[in-house]
Amino acid sequence: MNQYLFVLLSFVHVLADPDFAKLDGAPPSKIAVVGAGIGGTATAHFLRQHFGPEVRIDVFERGSVGGRLATVTVNHQDYESGGSIIHSLNLHMQDFVQQLGLKYRKSVAGKTAVFNGDEFILEETDWYLLDLFRLWWRYGISFIRLQMWVEEIMEKFMRIYKYQAHGYAFSSVEELLHSLGGSGFINMTRRSLSESLLELGVSQRFIDEVIAPIMRVNYGQNISIPAFVGAVSLAGAQANLWAVEGGNKLVCSGLLKLAKANLIRSPVATITLRSTGDYQQYELTYDSQNEKSSELYDIVVVATPLQQNINSGISFQGFEPQLSEIAGSYHQTVASIIHGYLNCSYFGFPDPKLFPFSSILTTDTPGLFFNSAASVCPVNITSGFRRKQPQEAGVYKVFSPKPLEKSELKTLFKSYYSVQVTDWLAYPHYGSSQGLPPVVLHENLYFLNGMEWAGSAMEMSSVAAKNIALLAYHRWNRQLEMIDQKELMHKVKTEL
Ligand SMILES: Cc1cc2nc3c(=O)[nH]c(=O)nc-3n(C[C@H](O)[C@H](O)[C@H](O)COP(=O)(O)OP(=O)(O)OC[C@H]3O[C@@H](n4cnc5c(N)ncnc54)[C@H](O)[C@@H]3O)c2cc1C
Ligand SMILES: *[C@@H]1O[C@H](CO)[C@@H](O)[C@H](O)[C@H]1NC(C)=O
Ligand SMILES: *[C@@H]1O[C@H](CO)[C@@H](O)[C@H](O)[C@H]1NC(C)=O
Ligand SMILES: *[C@@H]1O[C@H](CO)[C@@H](O)[C@H](O)[C@H]1NC(C)=O
Ligand SMILES: *[C@@H]1O[C@H](CO)[C@@H](O)[C@H](O)[C@H]1NC(C)=O
Repeated sequence: MNQYLFVLLSFVHVLADPDFAKLDGAPPSKIAVVGAGIGGTATAHFLRQHFGPEVRIDVFERGSVGGRLATVTVNHQDYESGGSIIHSLNLHMQDFVQQLGLKYRKSVAGKTAVFNGDEFILEETDWYLLDLFRLWWRYGISFIRLQMWVEEIMEKFMRIYKYQAHGYAFSSVEELLHSLGGSGFINMTRRSLSESLLELGVSQRFIDEVIAPIMRVNYGQNISIPAFVGAVSLAGAQANLWAVEGGNKLVCSGLLKLAKANLIRSPVATITLRSTGDYQQYELTYDSQNEKSSELYDIVVVATPLQQNINSGISFQGFEPQLSEIAGSYHQTVASIIHGYLNCSYFGFPDPKLFPFSSILTTDTPGLFFNSAASVCPVNITSGFRRKQPQEAGVYKVFSPKPLEKSELKTLFKSYYSVQVTDWLAYPHYGSSQGLPPVVLHENLYFLNGMEWAGSAMEMSSVAAKNIALLAYHRWNRQLEMIDQKELMHKVKTEL
């Protein structure tokens, strides 16, 4: 009788969702992940956890493992040129580092100041209480209001770890955000940061002098970006930041090994839908050693942006209706790693010995050619490490919207030995109008990087990776009760 009931129930599911590929309940035999950044490698890891040891997992990478986590070498030492900072509450990243036996690299203390093109308008001191007092004096209640706002958002966002630990998945970024923070979170992806903060009672002056510089260093963009993105990066502007000893990209190569995934160092050119009867698979074509190869997969996760200006080179074929192009573009930020002498005169300090800052943020001033400039530490820090003093040659990272011209380099630096430029399409170019991209492109074809449009950070890609692994697993096994559930706060409280 139980068996009949089972057949009946699965029949009902099939009726309710006739498009699902496999009807026999067999596990998938091959899964492909396109992209070996933190998103793709974390997906491979979570897929392995959920689907078990038998399934073959192939990860395709056209460039370097790590993607937007990358390092450049200066004077025999490596420096982060892409994603560099991790927050202490980024629990997936923390978990990866622990499972992989990697080490934490704490940020080396240093002072920050905000430059407006003429002078410093905000300077950090040695003394925490004095800084608080100054902020209070200058901006009044703004500072406290902002802190409470960010904390409340973080607290709600942290619910995702509980939901994911209980196995719940979401079929869209909107569903995920809604389950964490209701319509308030959805609205925050559509309204501008400045509008939200003004409404909260934060002063325009605080927004211009503190918030705008943080958005410029984190996203190279202004305070018109969506409030949700803004809140994510303000959380990152608080204390307790870290990075991975040896380079953040070590997490990606580590996860690939942990997942026992096959790394295929080739660009994927096409993803084609192939059907035999009721059974659908995806055929990936790619170049390997100048030969065209192709392979069929049961499940495919695309873990790279698909917006036009990224030029992923992937074309989708055989889908009816055609998979529509994903709107929006990625924002250019140039990271220049410069070994040289900072021109402290430019910042109003003729004597470099008196220059107290290691990080310089900037206000949104027309004509200012850089977003930030900071003395940076190598990815391996020995016990005796100290920051270079401004009168010594040091290694600096400058973010700018365009490659720096020689005259600009000569303005910022008295002289330099080397300049290494990484021209990133770094994160979404946020406008407040476009919606969030889809997660499910087809029955068993998923897209990871839509999550970046809610907020771009290593942890956001990791959260998206866990969600897609769960979603793929539940959809494959038709456990629809684990997808897009409402009232999850209540459910996880009453579940054992
Ligand atoms: C300058 C900069 C600073 C940043 N700072 C921070 C920070 O401090 N903290 C933080 O948390 N985040 C930061 N970020 C954001 C963070 O780096 C990204 O959100 C994250 O690394 C994205 O990872 P991903 O795996 O989703 O995408 P990606 O890293 O872009 O990975 C996609 C991969 O897919 C590959 N690929 C593309 N097309 C194909 C194809 N056709 N076939 C095969 N492979 C393909 C690409 O080569 C790439 O390796 C920063 C980013 C930049 C650029
Ligand atoms: C979000 O916006 C919608 C529509 O504008 C509104 O009905 C809803 O109350 C808003 N939610 C919150 C929490 O502000
Ligand atoms: C922010 O930048 C966008 C272009 O990226 C521009 O359209 C907008 O006017 C700017 N907003 C402010 C407040 O400067
Ligand atoms: C840097 O750190 C990583 C991780 O701890 C280690 O594997 C590597 O050997 C170190 N490199 C150097 C040059 O010390
Ligand atoms: C340094 O800054 C000063 C003041 O802005 C400027 O006059 C000088 O040209 C800059 N460059 C060098 C190499 O000193």
